[in-house]
Amino acid sequence: ASLELGPYNHFMQKEIHEQPKAIADTAEVLIDDAFHPEIFGEKAAEVFNDIHSIKILACGTSFYAGLTAKYWLESIAKIPCDVEIASEFRYRDVIADPKQLIVTISQSGETLDTMEALKYAHSLGQTHSLSICNVMESALPRESELVFYTRAGAEIGVASTKAFTTQLVALFGLSVTLGILKGHVDAAKQQSYLEQLRQLPGSIQHALNLEPQIVLWAQQFAKKSDALFLGRGIHYPVALEGALKLKEITYIHAEAYPAGELKHGPLALVDENMPVVVIAPHDKLLDKVKANMQEVSARGGELFVFADLDSNFTESEGVHVIRTPRHVGDLSPILHTIPVQLLSYHAALARGTDVDKPRNLAKSVTVE
Ligand code: G6P
Repeated sequence: ASLELGPYNHFMQKEIHEQPKAIADTAEVLIDDAFHPEIFGEKAAEVFNDIHSIKILACGTSFYAGLTAKYWLESIAKIPCDVEIASEFRYRDVIADPKQLIVTISQSGETLDTMEALKYAHSLGQTHSLSICNVMESALPRESELVFYTRAGAEIGVASTKAFTTQLVALFGLSVTLGILKGHVDAAKQQSYLEQLRQLPGSIQHALNLEPQIVLWAQQFAKKSDALFLGRGIHYPVALEGALKLKEITYIHAEAYPAGELKHGPLALVDENMPVVVIAPHDKLLDKVKANMQEVSARGGELFVFADLDSNFTESEGVHVIRTPRHVGDLSPILHTIPVQLLSYHAALARGTDVDKPRNLAKSVTVE
């Protein structure tokens, strides 16, 4: 291994393990300045007071960060939020809304479609924009009115890991900041959000400690040709990210579904050869998820469940369970991303694919 990799075999593995620090570094300013609007730029308070909705534009994994943020923005800040793939938005007849904040999310800050989508919004008279970005002074922050830099450090692996989880921290911070400003977050709630952020790096470390158990699952996945990922509510984007990671680096065909949609199609694919990963921590939709899992079991599907202690799952024939650290409230999707990253990484190792440079893919997509 090179000097840069230290004890790790791949950049992806190193970057997965850097997440407690990357997250702590990104959360630092949010905690120290207690969600003060200026964290997002000098003009942020003025801009935030002038908007009534949010449109998030991004590609790839960054798009999934946006899908997760929608739940926080609506539940914490009570602001309507749409999330759209940049390459779709830029070619649509968009109805401009100058009171809408355009939020672009990008690790590199150079993704062409995201940049063009932002320019299109600006050309329609939507001037309010915020860039959430990991690379200082890249194109997207330079083009935006406001900016928040994630502090993930350089990300080399093509499949995004620490950039994604730090984007989520930034978006959670944005949601709480807006919630305070709009009068939906009182002092007690603000304290509890700060506490959740303080505890997050420790919980992430606990999730990383699940690696030996996940390796055993990964060895089984490596032999499969398809996989299904299920989640509901705020854990649905985690399922999407899990399926994307698996596709990108193992070349196993994977799909993610909100578990409630099973009956409308994907259930037809389920048999004993289809591993079904379920993100099932104890949240308000858990009972619904359990009912969906029954439907899988009844068709002979093999379930691989990530769930915390409070979810109350036990292993049985065809049901494997890895116990995730106790769920950290609103930040649970960040925590539950770690096991799906590790699952893909170890399945890729078992298959012998080029983890850091998967075929046909690029780190930064600066062409159409
Ligand atoms: C490429 C990368 C992905 C990334 C996406 C968006 O497809 O392989 O990891 O999520 O681009 O990139 P961005 O830099 O805009 O976040």
